[in-house]
Amino acid sequence: MSKNMSRREFVGAFGAFAGMIALAGCGSSAGGNKAATSAAASTAAETGDLGLVSAGKLTIGVSPDFPPFDNMENGNYVGLDIDLAKDLADKLGLEVEYKNLQFDAIVPAVAAGGQVDLGISGITVEPDREKQVNFSDSYYIDDQCIVVMKDNTSVTADDQSALNAAGVTIAVQSGTTGESYAKENFPNATTQPYGNATDCFAAMQAGQAQAVVTNKAVGKQMVADAYTDAQVVKEIATGEEYACAVSKDNDALLSAVNDAIKQLQDDGTLDALVKKYLG
Ligand code: ARG
Repeated sequence: MSKNMSRREFVGAFGAFAGMIALAGCGSSAGGNKAATSAAASTAAETGDLGLVSAGKLTIGVSPDFPPFDNMENGNYVGLDIDLAKDLADKLGLEVEYKNLQFDAIVPAVAAGGQVDLGISGITVEPDREKQVNFSDSYYIDDQCIVVMKDNTSVTADDQSALNAAGVTIAVQSGTTGESYAKENFPNATTQPYGNATDCFAAMQAGQAQAVVTNKAVGKQMVADAYTDAQVVKEIATGEEYACAVSKDNDALLSAVNDAIKQLQDDGTLDALVKKYLG
């Protein structure tokens, strides 16, 4: 956590200055005599300079199965990413619309264009993904964790080798960093991908898997809220950076999003969001 804080503080320190430069650039490229305030960004958004899928709206690809970042409650999208997307849209003078996609389809959808403007879904900046999309500045840093049922005493904080055996199944969400971690570290086990992150926990509870590998903040939340008979047995400090995925063809949107993120860092909104959802 202190790592997160210091990074954000660092970004915040020069964010105001960098933001002014970014906005000045934005205003002049639009050719107007706009003031170097957030009004410049919102005007660019309204005039369609951001190449949005749907005019006046920021359309967000999200997989709402990843609390506290992305979830569905009583038919409503909730979570840190959901609030962040709304705040980003506000800064750009846009409405927000969420599009429910399976996680492993989000980066391809952003890359293909025409469906969503941004992917915001606890997406870790990864070299393979950077070949397909651009990433904004990061807004959160997470780790991995291993979750097992509490009565599974063969796996401990010091020794998870029982999971690296034939006949063991590790549940992961398809296409995630958790899937790569499980494959790399438990090559003798079967890594079973599920489309939906929450299905991994249900599968483990039903005895179809012996462990779940997911991001730390999510594993902790799932165990605290829904799967109290399970526990986070091991945390792995991967320091994964979560960021918004943007089409490689849309530099205007990338800089507008980065500018809005800086504003949300500078005005304390991002810290407040992290506090609200992660304590
Ligand atoms: N951080 C991980 C990744 O990028 C998992 C993200 C899963 N997100 C979700 N909304 N289900 O691979």
